[in-house]
Amino acid sequence: MILVTGGTGYIGSHVCALLLAAGREVAIVDNLSNSGADVVDRLETVTGRRPLFHRGDVRDAGFLTEVAAKLRPECALHFAGLKAVAESVRQPLAYYDVNVGGTATLLKVLQQNGTRRFVFSSSATVYAPSEVMPLTEESPLGPYNPYGWTKFMAEQILRDLAAAAPDWRVAVLRYFNPVGAHESGLLGEKPLGTPNNLMPRLCDAAAGRTPRFSVFGLDYPTRDGSGVRDYLHVTDLALGHIRAMEHLETAAGAHVYNLGTGTGLSVLEMAAAFRAATGVEAPYEVCPRRPGDLAEYYSSPAKAERELGWKAEKTPADMCRDAWAFHRRCLAD
Ligand code: NAD
Ligand code: WQD
Repeated sequence: MILVTGGTGYIGSHVCALLLAAGREVAIVDNLSNSGADVVDRLETVTGRRPLFHRGDVRDAGFLTEVAAKLRPECALHFAGLKAVAESVRQPLAYYDVNVGGTATLLKVLQQNGTRRFVFSSSATVYAPSEVMPLTEESPLGPYNPYGWTKFMAEQILRDLAAAAPDWRVAVLRYFNPVGAHESGLLGEKPLGTPNNLMPRLCDAAAGRTPRFSVFGLDYPTRDGSGVRDYLHVTDLALGHIRAMEHLETAAGAHVYNLGTGTGLSVLEMAAAFRAATGVEAPYEVCPRRPGDLAEYYSSPAKAERELGWKAEKTPADMCRDAWAFHRRCLAD
C-alpha cells in the first residue's frame, strides 16, 4: 500500500494515476482545501482502478494514526501542503503550520507505524538566487520567501531523521516549474481562486476569460527580456516519483534530486509555443516586474538521470497542448 498525501491535488493526482495503472494499491489522504473529491472518480475513470480516499488533515495525528495503523503503508509520498508564494508572505504561520508542522506530524505517525520510505515534494525555491546556472543539488541554498523556508525546513527534518534512524529511506525531489495536464484531459491544475502561475493565466487569456495575461517584466537580462524558467510536464514529473520510490527499495539514507528538463524557456517563448501547439493566440500586455521574481533559473537534472534513470521527455508543445485541453474541459464542466 502506498500512502499519498495531497493525492487529489495537481501533482499528486498524476502520481496516483501512474501508481494505479501499474497495479499498486493507493490510499489518498487529503483535506480537499485545494482540490475536489471528484478527482477520486476521475482516477477511476482514467485507470480503471479506485484509490482509497481518507479526507483529513496532515496536522491531525489522531486521524493519521488511524489511517497508518490500518493500512501500514510501505511507502509515503507527501504532496499535501500550501504552495502560493505571495500568500506565504501574507500568512507565514499557516505555511509553517501545514508545510513544516504537517510534515513533522506525518513523519512521527509513520515512524510509530512502521513506514520507512518517504518521497517529499520540495521545490527549486530552496536555492539561493544565483547567476550561476544550471542549479545542481549542490548549489547554495537560501530561500527568499516563507514558502521556500518551509520547504527548506522540511528537507532538514528529513535529513536529520535519515541520519538518526538509518532504516529510513528518503527522496527529496526539488521540482522546477510543473505545467501541463494528463493526456486524458481529466486531471490537471484547477486553481480554486485566481491563478498565480503563468500557464493557467495564459490559458485564461486564450479562452477569453480574461482580456489578456500580463508579461511580468520585459527588462530582464535574458535573451528576450522576459523571465526564464525550467517548465516540465506534470506527467514527466510524476514518473520521477515512481523512479525515486523504486530507487529507495535499495538505496539507504536521504537523497536529493532536481526534477526539471534542464532547459529554460522565457515567458514570450512559452506564449509562442502555446500559439504554435494550439492555434490559439493568448493576448498579453507587458507589465512591470512582479516583486520577488528572479530573471532566470533552470536545473541540472543530471543526477536524477544518472541515479534514477529519469529524464523529462515531453516538449513545450506537449505542455501547452495538454494544459489547454484540460482548461477547455474544465470550462465546459
Ligand atoms: P495542490 O494544491 O494541487 O495539491 C496539494 C494538495 O494538498 C491539495 O489537494 C490540498 O487539498 C492538499 N492539502 C493542503 N493542505 C493540506 C493539509 N493540511 N492536510 C491534507 N491535505 C492538504 O498542489 P500541487 O501543485 O499538486 O503541489 C503538491 C506539492 O508539490 C506541494 O507540497 C507543493 O508545495 C509542491 N510543489 C509544487 C510546485 C508547483 O509548481 N505546483 C512546485 C514545487 C513544489
Ligand atoms: C513563471 C514565469 C513570471 C505569471 C512559482 C513558485 C515556485 C513553484 C512554481 C511551488 C515568471 C512569469 C507569471 C503571469 C508572467 N511553486 N509570469 N505572467 O514564479 O517561477 O514559480 O511556481 O513550489 O516556488 O515561486 O512560476 O508560473 O508564477 O511564473 O509573466 O501572469 O512567468 O514572472 O518569469 P514561478 P510562475
